[in-house]
Amino acid sequence: MLLRIEDLWVRYGGITALSGISIDVPEGETVLLVGANGAGKSSTINAIIGLVPAAKGRIIFAGTDISHIPCERRARLGIGYSPEGRRVFPTMSVTDNVLSGAFGLGRKRQMEALEWLRSTFPLLHDRASQPAGQLSGGQQQIVALARAMASFPKLLLMDEPFLGLAPVWIKQISDAILQLRARGTTVLMTEQMARPALKLATSGYVMRGGEVRRSGPVDAIRDLALADEYL
Ligand SMILES: Nc1ncnc2c1ncn2[C@@H]1O[C@H](COP(=O)(O)OP(=O)(O)OP(=O)(O)O)[C@@H](O)[C@H]1O
Ligand SMILES: [Mg+2]
Repeated sequence: MLLRIEDLWVRYGGITALSGISIDVPEGETVLLVGANGAGKSSTINAIIGLVPAAKGRIIFAGTDISHIPCERRARLGIGYSPEGRRVFPTMSVTDNVLSGAFGLGRKRQMEALEWLRSTFPLLHDRASQPAGQLSGGQQQIVALARAMASFPKLLLMDEPFLGLAPVWIKQISDAILQLRARGTTVLMTEQMARPALKLATSGYVMRGGEVRRSGPVDAIRDLALADEYL
């Protein structure tokens, strides 16, 4: 198991966002966390990357308990993160946005990353010197994804990559995720939009109110995931 979450609790002051969830992400798979607003999807992702503390429970990545180590060390262990709302550095060029994800890798590896990402996403080449803030939402999502991939992470966390995007961009992001998977990247993604996400995932978890309602292969969670989609 590349990532194992055991009995994870997250609290914001008096608010309990996660009430003891357990999640397994096997190597090479694409695992989906699906659920309506406030289900606890972002809290889960943010606890894994270390942006919010775990009140209780364990997060084990590649055999190491990472629940108490700082964010940057988790990233260095091989966890990439693409935040909700496709945050890019708006005034920085597309290329610099992507390179910012490869910070600390060394010039040679950075150039390797850039070359590979440009061959995967031609947009990064075509818009190389344009400020990222000038791109469309879908294009910015590609940049955010490329930045998260620039360090060649073993595990890619993606928080709602489809949010607010037109179908044509959902298709492009989906294709990009499939290409990353073909390259051996393990993916843990969240989505409120169950329908396109279920096409990508190998297994998933339906969350509601900070708990896991159901989990299993996509076929076992599909009906509940779709029923929750419009809550
Ligand atoms: N910084 C915060 N301070 C206080 N409460 C928070 C904070 N962030 C999230 N919460 C609460 O924690 C719960 C889980 O929120 P979370 O953002 O993890 O859900 P989500 O599934 O990502 O929702 P969405 O689909 O809207 O992104 C919600 O009740 C939310 O209001
Ligand atoms: Mg969220």
